[in-house]
Amino acid sequence: MAAATVTKRVLSGMRPTGKMHLGHLAGALGNWAELQAKYECFYFVADWHALTSEYGNTEGLTDYALDNVTDWIAAGLDPERSTFFVQSLVPEHAELYLLLSMIVPTPWLERVPTYKEQIEELAEKDLSTLGFLGYPLLQGADIIMYRAHYVPVGEDQVPHLELTREVVRRFHSFYSEVFVEPQPLLTHFPRLPGLDNRKMSKSYDNTINLSDDAEMVRKKVKRMYTDPTRVRADIPGTVEGNPVFMYHDAFNADTAEVDDLKARYRAGTVGDVEVKEKLAQALNATLDPIRERRAGLIARPERIREILFEGSRLARKEAQGTMAKVREAVRLKYS
Ligand code: TRP
Repeated sequence: MAAATVTKRVLSGMRPTGKMHLGHLAGALGNWAELQAKYECFYFVADWHALTSEYGNTEGLTDYALDNVTDWIAAGLDPERSTFFVQSLVPEHAELYLLLSMIVPTPWLERVPTYKEQIEELAEKDLSTLGFLGYPLLQGADIIMYRAHYVPVGEDQVPHLELTREVVRRFHSFYSEVFVEPQPLLTHFPRLPGLDNRKMSKSYDNTINLSDDAEMVRKKVKRMYTDPTRVRADIPGTVEGNPVFMYHDAFNADTAEVDDLKARYRAGTVGDVEVKEKLAQALNATLDPIRERRAGLIARPERIREILFEGSRLARKEAQGTMAKVREAVRLKYS
């Protein structure tokens, strides 16, 4: 008998906390788009996860969700091939999270590295909440709900996947085998710095957004941080760790041009103005097709809503199937 080829599943999500920028494109969306060729993909808006830190500031949430998904599709994600959904439109995630919370010792959550890190980093927010502690467990529920094999994420999320696998094993040891143990699919892409060489973040206003027009991109590139010791164009400059060249490496398809610019930069025979002008051109060449698709999508705003409602309906069907098995495993079946 021929073995049935089962397409493996991929699932990933993003919190709707701001506009999509080049960091998202290089670090996630490009990869998400490629995975569609090989896997059955589920991509979702993690709006409940956004609430774990933005609970006091929920006004823009749904607008960001719609705006983000517009950018996902403009960047090459295909609603004909993949399922897009909104976490809060699939309330089964909350039920699974609740049942998992019964078996997960709180020290497992307290020792997830992102927990203490984020509390320190976001000191202006009160993150001493139950919801924030439970963040990685909710993420685990998102993943195992769909029996996803692979989860494309950045390095910082690997401990969340480890926790998820431990939770799955604990569930299976108490009850019965329901879930798949998910694996991270690491995006091996060096994290891009922001325009000012700090961490890329909307709160630093140092991002180039997918929705920025060509002129805005040029302006932002002009004020980009570069080698600070290079006060004149005829002084040799440093390429390594220089944000301008990191962006060239990430987005300029003309590698011969990039090599030439690097060589001349090191030799002190090219000015920052030229390097930046070429970068702006490369970025705009990357963004132009995305802009075009975006404009088409924005002309029919109902379309994005339809995609999300339909995707959420499909996701919910899956989730309901999983929850029937979960309730049975936990012996919470009253019929
Ligand atoms: N924690 C992820 C992030 O901040 C978002 C997320 C929530 C997620 N649930 C998920 C990612 C499930 C992958 C799978 O980027």
